[in-house]
Amino acid sequence: MNKFPKDFLWGGASAANQFEGGYNEGGKALTISDVTSSGSHTRPREITWIVPKTGEKGSTKFAMGGKMEFPEGAIPCVLEGYYYPSHQATDFYHHYKEDIALMAEMGFKTFRMSIAWSRIYPDLESETPNEEGLKFYEDVFKELKKYDIEPLVTLSHFEIPVDLAVKYGGWANRKVVDLFVKYATTVLKRYKGLVKYWLTFNEINMMEHLQALSIGVLDVTPQKKADAALHQFLASALTVKKAHEISDDYQVGMMLAYQPLYAETCDPKDQLFVLNKLQRQFLWYSDVQVGGEYPNYKLKEYEREGIQLNAQEGDLDLLKKYACDFLSFSCYGSSVFTTHNNFIESGGGNAVRGKKNPYLEANAWGWETDPHCIRIALNTLYDRYHKPLWIVENGIGWEDKLEEDGTIHDSYRIDYLRHNVKSMSDAINIDGIPLMGYTMWGCIDLVSAGTGEMKKRYGFVYVDMDDEGNGTLNRYKKDSFYWYKKCIASDGKDLD
Ligand code: BG6
Repeated sequence: MNKFPKDFLWGGASAANQFEGGYNEGGKALTISDVTSSGSHTRPREITWIVPKTGEKGSTKFAMGGKMEFPEGAIPCVLEGYYYPSHQATDFYHHYKEDIALMAEMGFKTFRMSIAWSRIYPDLESETPNEEGLKFYEDVFKELKKYDIEPLVTLSHFEIPVDLAVKYGGWANRKVVDLFVKYATTVLKRYKGLVKYWLTFNEINMMEHLQALSIGVLDVTPQKKADAALHQFLASALTVKKAHEISDDYQVGMMLAYQPLYAETCDPKDQLFVLNKLQRQFLWYSDVQVGGEYPNYKLKEYEREGIQLNAQEGDLDLLKKYACDFLSFSCYGSSVFTTHNNFIESGGGNAVRGKKNPYLEANAWGWETDPHCIRIALNTLYDRYHKPLWIVENGIGWEDKLEEDGTIHDSYRIDYLRHNVKSMSDAINIDGIPLMGYTMWGCIDLVSAGTGEMKKRYGFVYVDMDDEGNGTLNRYKKDSFYWYKKCIASDGKDLD
């Protein structure tokens, strides 16, 4: 029988750039997401730019893991002839009351959302924050409070201000740490009493794959990536410090994109390969942010590759002293790897892509449903850190069909979630893992980060909008809406 603690934080998750819209309202400045066009499963998204000196205009394709090339002097900007899904997204900016009421109807205890930095400090250097931006989030938090829904707030979720990339060269520049801490301090002070749980950087390890969206570095090199990582770690540690000074109630988590990796064969070379990949693409980030130290295997890698750890006096102490209070992570599935030369990347997934797993089924984007990935992930992370865990993203993208009578029959989503709820329950009850909560990704349909599509839907609630932004934006409850409501009301027992 499934069992969850009474205070388990059931809910859903979102991010400003994929959900909020209102991209140029309320004094907000442009972010890298706002200059990122839509794409599809087979057509990469593109960042559009202009070179002011020559007037040249163009776009650069997303390169997962690879380097994105921008011409010298290129400034990311909005160009005519492109569609930018973040501009309207699914318009939480104007629908937040209706959306929060739907969350309350499902019985949400928590809602994960992000603050767009560029709404709070459209001018990064200003000493005065933008009151309209602050007020918007205050209204949202008050609305959530009305229904006893605890916000879980990400400070940076792929919302890099364009100015940060252009004027500072993104997170590779140490000055950005102070700018971020100023922003974080402003919101930590302003929302005291309204918010309790904070996350610093969404999927911090996605900087391995998405240089512009995650760190705003357009001309990335291995050294700049190492600097950007150090600077985000420092900014996160200083945010933990500030948060604890401002309120005893505050808890600040890190957020890791995580997925179990399976070796395809029992060849020890395959096992070692998977171990190394896990360390280098996932765990070294949490070793620093939760464990408080750069792990030896990472320092050795820097040494071998001639990369400097540009830490100044006191930096490493800061990382140790202000490690995050809890570890939150996304987990959508798992990946398979082998060192044998028949390896071809044929599986899907958000962080790393391996081979197709013959034991699992996949959706149209190649993302596989692994009924045990959550339990495996929870065990690996708890064994390593002994800190409370929170699953802040999990879900399945699917092309749902809105029937004429306004219903949506998403049994595939219910099946996927049922496995995952069972997996969490086993981790809690059989393995004794302290799991704080679960926020299903994209609880109300929003735009896909990877493809910019609308048709890759995750929600319990369908939003009437297509891949070009056409539609009424009306909200419709899917079958999974009623299923999740029952699941929450029964503390995870009723999963039929
Ligand atoms: C995570 C991100 O990587 O995966 C989200 O934090 C994203 O922003 C989610 O939306 C699902 O990925 P996608 O590409 O299907 O939107």
